[in-house]
Amino acid sequence: MNVSTVTDGIFRLSTNVENILFEGLWPIPNGVSLNSYIVKGEKTALIDGVCGWDGVPEELFAMLDKIGVAPESIDYVVVNHMEPDHSGWIEDFKKIREDFTIVTSKKAVPLMKSFFDVTNDIMVVGDGDTLDLGDGRVLAFAEIPNVHWPETIATFDTKSGTLMPCDAFGSFGSIGEAAYDDQLSEEQIAFFENEAIRYYANIVAAFSLPVQKAIAKCAPLPIKIIAPGHGIVWRKNPQKIIDDYIRYASYQKGPCENEVTVIWGSMYGNTEQTINTVVRELEQNGIKVHAHRVPEDSWGDVLASIWSSTGVVLAMPTYEYKMFPPMAAVLDELGRKKVLNRQAFRIGSFGWSGGAQKELDEIMQRHRMNWSFLESVEFQGKPTEEHLTLIKERCAQLAQNIKDAVAAK
Ligand SMILES: Cc1cc2nc3c(=O)[nH]c(=O)nc-3n(C[C@H](O)[C@H](O)[C@H](O)COP(=O)(O)O)c2cc1C
Ligand SMILES: [Fe+2]
Ligand SMILES: [Fe+2]
Repeated sequence: MNVSTVTDGIFRLSTNVENILFEGLWPIPNGVSLNSYIVKGEKTALIDGVCGWDGVPEELFAMLDKIGVAPESIDYVVVNHMEPDHSGWIEDFKKIREDFTIVTSKKAVPLMKSFFDVTNDIMVVGDGDTLDLGDGRVLAFAEIPNVHWPETIATFDTKSGTLMPCDAFGSFGSIGEAAYDDQLSEEQIAFFENEAIRYYANIVAAFSLPVQKAIAKCAPLPIKIIAPGHGIVWRKNPQKIIDDYIRYASYQKGPCENEVTVIWGSMYGNTEQTINTVVRELEQNGIKVHAHRVPEDSWGDVLASIWSSTGVVLAMPTYEYKMFPPMAAVLDELGRKKVLNRQAFRIGSFGWSGGAQKELDEIMQRHRMNWSFLESVEFQGKPTEEHLTLIKERCAQLAQNIKDAVAAK
């Protein structure tokens, strides 16, 4: 665990988590930080006690000692969100003192009972409510439902202009000593930008409409600092992460960037024989290509790539009269995340009957994905030179369609 000063009277407590699947599902090759904040007026509040992973309360006591905060002086625990990576520490906190007040949303109350058996000392807050900590420090609250669960709120310190928006404006990536944008090089910021899009695509993507509503609600606040529940704190340029999130939310419906994600799978190398042609042709036409093989590459990687891609190429064989199963699983997940309106093209090998196309059509319909497909190129067994020529032509057309869509946005 690590402690640092965000601004006068506000401190960041953070721990990095690595070698887990986030939400039990998403690989995080570069880890993730879990951030809590201590806000000191005459009274002290803890925002999002997240530090349950590495030995609370001893670790926590040591950190609080460093910033001169007695653990028993924490009067309020603000729970912006009930997911355990923000609230999982309540049980431990009860061991420090029994009579602290939990500040949370109305929708969190039943979850508080079912997750932690807490029913007493809950202060319910919603839009427009405030909590005066004394010494001129007033916390204001805003409901930001479905970013990421229905009960989520954001907390704003009106004295310093610090927004603590929980999962919003977050990113993956473990953080060392330097946790603030003003301490990081351009390359380090670019690293967290990549981690932010992976985080957004994996965790937040399905809630892009609520994200847009949350941004509309929070952006008019006099924000000077954004201190999210995951990732770096934006002190020099908080507008950057707001603008990035506006862009990420817009990617759900597309068009996105001049990029294409090639998702492919192959059992015996027949479909695979087309992939070099696809990648080369798209790159020669000025499109950035992300290529992922399934099932080898994770859904998390595929989602991170496709989220900013205007185009998609799907290449897979037929398998038991349907689509190569890992491709169907990935496409179903893309449908759940509402990856909509992409420019698309499918390629695939079959042995005797085909069937992959039918399942693809079903998945597109089931999730109302509204992808615009060029005519598929299917071949029995190996692709011939004619097939490869046709694939080249289609990829050139796809590149053009992508550029036209991006230019029209
Ligand atoms: C388990 C299995 C099931 C298959 N089911 C079908 C099928 O239902 N219909 C069909 O046309 N081909 C089927 N095939 C044949 C493959 O689609 C064909 O061999 C294709 O060329 C494989 O392409 P790949 O090398 O890119 O994997 C099946 C192959 C396997 C191994
Ligand atoms: Fe969450
Ligand atoms: Fe979270």
